[in-house]
Amino acid sequence: METIQAKDYQIVFQENGYQLLNNLINTNNYTSLFLLTDTNTNTYCSAHFLSKIESSKPIEIIEIIAGEEHKNIETCVSLWETFVTLGADRKSLLINLGGGVLTDIGGFVATTFMRGFDFVHIPTSLLAMVDASVGGKNGVDLGGLKNQIGTFNTPKLVLIDTEFLNTLPAQEMRNGLAEMIKHGLIADATYFKQLSNLSHFVYEDLPVLIHRSIVIKNDVVNNDPHEKGFRKILNFGHTLGHTIETYFYNSPEPLSHGESVIIGSILALYLSTKATTFDLDTAKTIKEQLLKTYRKITFSEEAIEATITLLKHDKKSKNGIANFVLLDAIGKASIDHHFEHESLIEAFEFYAS
Ligand SMILES: NC(=O)c1ccc[n+]([C@@H]2O[C@H](COP(=O)([O-])OP(=O)(O)OC[C@H]3O[C@@H](n4cnc5c(N)ncnc54)[C@H](O)[C@@H]3O)[C@@H](O)[C@H]2O)c1
Ligand SMILES: [Zn+2]
Repeated sequence: METIQAKDYQIVFQENGYQLLNNLINTNNYTSLFLLTDTNTNTYCSAHFLSKIESSKPIEIIEIIAGEEHKNIETCVSLWETFVTLGADRKSLLINLGGGVLTDIGGFVATTFMRGFDFVHIPTSLLAMVDASVGGKNGVDLGGLKNQIGTFNTPKLVLIDTEFLNTLPAQEMRNGLAEMIKHGLIADATYFKQLSNLSHFVYEDLPVLIHRSIVIKNDVVNNDPHEKGFRKILNFGHTLGHTIETYFYNSPEPLSHGESVIIGSILALYLSTKATTFDLDTAKTIKEQLLKTYRKITFSEEAIEATITLLKHDKKSKNGIANFVLLDAIGKASIDHHFEHESLIEAFEFYAS
């Protein structure tokens, strides 16, 4: 798989990737090497990862508890203290082995400890491979506010090894797939077609599909590294997706991020037919395709109203008006669309129909 050049680092793959990582480790004279894991990735991924690493220096494994609820400043404090205890300095290297929660935290603590030391990302979830580890955003949540504290800072290297996906739960695979579908919808119709033909999806195709997704995200980020405008297209499906995820968060059956984004995408497809030349029949076909992989949720009238109210109060809405990313066509996104209440209700009716 061909190396992808990001702004000031490379995204490398499989065996060739390990060679480059070993080079990086052995030619930089790092004072100490740390492997950051969570309770799952330490169990499932550490041994495989370490079997690929040739280092004359020992690698100290650090483990944090898995889960978004630990993506907070308390975990960072405990990691910074661990770094002090283990004698980390500005010439240390942190290797982040995990999903998006771990790469977000790891990037942040490495960037802030003693004003920053080097880090690399080894994403082990599909979502982290195609999304979280690409683009240089790091950070943690603050109470209920997601990703409120953070930095833009890029890793030395991102290494993709699809072997890790063998132990990833199916629900987590669907979370990553939702972002890949998003990449197809906003930037590449052919790629979307490949993905939506999921009945023919085989594990062997994954590396190529993941590679394409990363190229798409990387291209968008390179065009707008600090999210001034164009990068917003990566929010496709996420405007209502986020509020739906939030609404169901405390319900007996919470929705995953991927499920919420797929619903948000279907709603955005309908809204596209209202505001752009996007064809209604195409929107219906895509909806049917997506609902073969993602369960259909029944929204009560109350749930719809509550979701729309949450949307108005979302931090990304200005003066109570939400900003939508829509499609002009499959593979072509456009930003900064606004809708009245009634259109949003219609979008939910389209989803339910
Ligand atoms: N920085 C960015 O640009 C960016 C972009 C998108 C998402 N994110 C962040 O990413 C996070 C979500 O990432 P995620 O979906 O990877 O969640 P996650 O890191 O919580 O991983 C999901 C679960 O899978 C487990 N896991 C990971 N790899 C495994 C493997 N190979 N085998 C078995 N279990 C494994 C984890 O321990 C966790 O329990 C969110 O916090 C989100 O804000 C960041
Ligand atoms: Zn997402």
